[in-house]
Amino acid sequence: MAIEVPLLGGTANRGRVHRVGDTVRRPLRRTTPAVHALLRHLEDVGFDGAPRVLGIDDDGREILSYVPGQAVTAPAPGWGLTDAALRSVGHLLRRFHDAVTGFDPRPHAWSASAPEPFADGGITHNDPNLDNVVFRDGRAVALIDFDLAAPGHPVWDVAGAARLWAPLRDPTDTTDRRRNRELTRLRVLADAYGLDDAGRTLLPAAVVGHHEWMTELVGDGARRGIPGFAEYWTAQARSRAARTSAWLHAHADDIAHTLI
Ligand SMILES: Nc1ncnc2c1ncn2[C@@H]1O[C@H](COP(=O)(O)OP(=O)(O)OP(=O)(O)O)[C@@H](O)[C@H]1O
Ligand SMILES: [Mg+2]
Repeated sequence: MAIEVPLLGGTANRGRVHRVGDTVRRPLRRTTPAVHALLRHLEDVGFDGAPRVLGIDDDGREILSYVPGQAVTAPAPGWGLTDAALRSVGHLLRRFHDAVTGFDPRPHAWSASAPEPFADGGITHNDPNLDNVVFRDGRAVALIDFDLAAPGHPVWDVAGAARLWAPLRDPTDTTDRRRNRELTRLRVLADAYGLDDAGRTLLPAAVVGHHEWMTELVGDGARRGIPGFAEYWTAQARSRAARTSAWLHAHADDIAHTLI
């Protein structure tokens, strides 16, 4: 009998993601056919920075390839927080957005897109969190967990990554080596991604939008009783989210100037 090893680090599917040999088993969702079409497209165009779809197992779970390496799960290891690691996240995101050019999302039912004006222009991962990027030798090699992928503007993913990896939040809420380097790291990410002038103009609003969007999504999940979200969405997490909003608004000009 195959051994099931729980894979930890996620919130939405906590306790329901397992490794079996070289595969990963995850619950199906309404949007799984869309995500599988996307992953198959990525395979067809030779993009190696995402898991492969291998099918559905007898327990009704999706089977994906296990990507060898390590995601940056809490407590975040130092190698995941260097500027070189951040640069590699920018490169990976750019390669992902380039690889989805030419993919037609219209036949599929997706997770909710970003709000306007970020709702189209490509396909976005939407959740480029630390624990959704697999690293090898200190470099990001693959995005995983495409549950929230949807049609969207690429800058939305750069904003999501900046928010979480820089990270763009009140430094009192950053206890690791990234503290007080958030704006420097924002620039590192934007430059590594190769963000164009139009993207740099859109990014400050996208960062605020992404924070509000994710806060709403997590709060909604908690209210609906999704265990991982309900556990995560404590009074402490809610006040941290409010501090992040306040910090983003107070530093809107700094964020914009950093990108010029
Ligand atoms: N295909 C994969 N290859 C390697 N590791 C994986 C893979 N899929 C998941 N993992 C590992 O399992 C962890 C949890 O998986 P996953 O991100 O799918 O869970 P989740 O609960 O849906 O996460 P989230 O809260 O981000 O939605 C990841 O952080 C990663 O460490
Ligand atoms: Mg995840």
